[in-house]
Amino acid sequence: MRIAMIGTGYVGLVSGACFSDFGHHVICVDKDIEKIDALNQGKIPIYEPELERLVTSNKDSGRLRFTTEIAAAVSDVDVVFLAVGTPARRGDGHADLQFVHAAAKEVAASLKNFTVIATKSTVPVGTGDDIERLMHEVNPTADVAVVSNPEFLREGAAIRDFKFPDRIVVGSDDVRARDVMAELYRPLSLNRLPILFTSRRTAELIKYAANAFLATKISFINEIADLCEKLGADVQEVARGIGLDNRIGAKFLHAGPGFGGSCFPKDTLALIKTAQDHDSPVRIVEAVVAINETRKRAMSRKVVNMLGGDVRGKTIAVLGLTFKPNTDDMRDAPSIPLITAITDRGAKVKAFDPVGQDHAKQVLPDVEFCENSYEAAEGADALVIVTEWEQFRALDFKRLKKIMTTPVVVDLRNIYRGEDLEREGFAYEGVGKGSLRPWNGLERRKADVRKASDEITPSRDSRDISGT
Ligand SMILES: NC(=O)c1ccc[n+]([C@@H]2O[C@H](COP(=O)([O-])OP(=O)(O)OC[C@H]3O[C@@H](n4cnc5c(N)ncnc54)[C@H](O)[C@@H]3O)[C@@H](O)[C@H]2O)c1
Repeated sequence: MRIAMIGTGYVGLVSGACFSDFGHHVICVDKDIEKIDALNQGKIPIYEPELERLVTSNKDSGRLRFTTEIAAAVSDVDVVFLAVGTPARRGDGHADLQFVHAAAKEVAASLKNFTVIATKSTVPVGTGDDIERLMHEVNPTADVAVVSNPEFLREGAAIRDFKFPDRIVVGSDDVRARDVMAELYRPLSLNRLPILFTSRRTAELIKYAANAFLATKISFINEIADLCEKLGADVQEVARGIGLDNRIGAKFLHAGPGFGGSCFPKDTLALIKTAQDHDSPVRIVEAVVAINETRKRAMSRKVVNMLGGDVRGKTIAVLGLTFKPNTDDMRDAPSIPLITAITDRGAKVKAFDPVGQDHAKQVLPDVEFCENSYEAAEGADALVIVTEWEQFRALDFKRLKKIMTTPVVVDLRNIYRGEDLEREGFAYEGVGKGSLRPWNGLERRKADVRKASDEITPSRDSRDISGT
């Protein structure tokens, strides 16, 4: 089949490359000339594992092309995907649809034959109706079927997610469009993939409901983590204990610095706004967002507490800046409010991220960027792990102890065991680890925890309860 992909970002480029890998002919369009020039020269503008190989091989085969010219790209294809950005609108948090609307109008002007317009961008319920109306305003004779085809891939595992999705959602009542979409995804249904055909509005809502539910799991376990710290329990064991229940599931139960990235923050906000506008508030999601907002900056207090309550004049090493490993995406990364809060309190931050530094430099101007973990840790009063890149999982703590000013580790992803690091002579603080380790500012919390746990089990020390 012939496909035009409008928007060649994280979703558009991965989807375009994967569709061409299935054997379809894909032309990826973007208005960003630098991006298209780079792609035409064989350079990949984003970091996504395996993407370079996939793009190169399909470009070489002639099935994957790149252009800035929408008109020529869409005039003779079976499907036009809209994969442009839908950021939160400044001021009110609604999804900003200006890129979707602009792309739809431009596409409409150049259509000749029957064309399926499939919206991959995450858009509020009713956007498909708007797209259809706008296209007919621009080109009253356009023969289009506007379909909602939300994308569920995760950055960092995007190609695998695209090729082996849990499900594909196609929202349309148009039989011709359903047939085209089924044919498009046929290479995947060889794996007995569930394609869920729904109405367009239902499909649009499925995407928001899915992201809001996943964000809810994260905020839920983060609040349980806070409670664990007060009660002397271990959130990783709690997560395992509940996650083994199939009704709950183990995924998205990792306590940490709060969710970030290009989707959850804006999509939860947009769902809240849509729900409020329709007088049907989603109060759970409102709480999820509020919990997450306070959490991001609150993580800085862990660092401050570990250093006795004052970080002025101190140096903090931060490892990992992107919102998750295996991406260079810094959009809404929890590292940003964390670092801002630390520098606001007068500390200097040295940071290292394996691939996100170029993007990070644009949003974190006061940070000293380093070439590796050890350069960042040199002379630091504390080392903070913010993103769990694989290479941070086996740090040489003997070496770190020698080069750091004080041996303090704040592990916001719980990738280490506190007792292992304490054996190496470090003071360690994870997330939701209610065991009691004396270190400056933690003394006060230690007393708080004792008090809280005594109220529950007066005869036991909370270290026994936590099991860590
Ligand atoms: N990033 C993800 O993990 C992810 C996952 C699922 C869904 N989504 C959704 O997919 C959509 C795209 O997200 P993304 O992360 O790929 O965004 P992105 O910012 O990486 O890419 C969007 C691209 O669209 C281009 N663009 C904008 N207007 C255009 C126009 N009129 N013509 C041609 N190109 C245009 C931009 O230049 C940019 O390159 C969003 O709605 C997002 O919510 C993203």
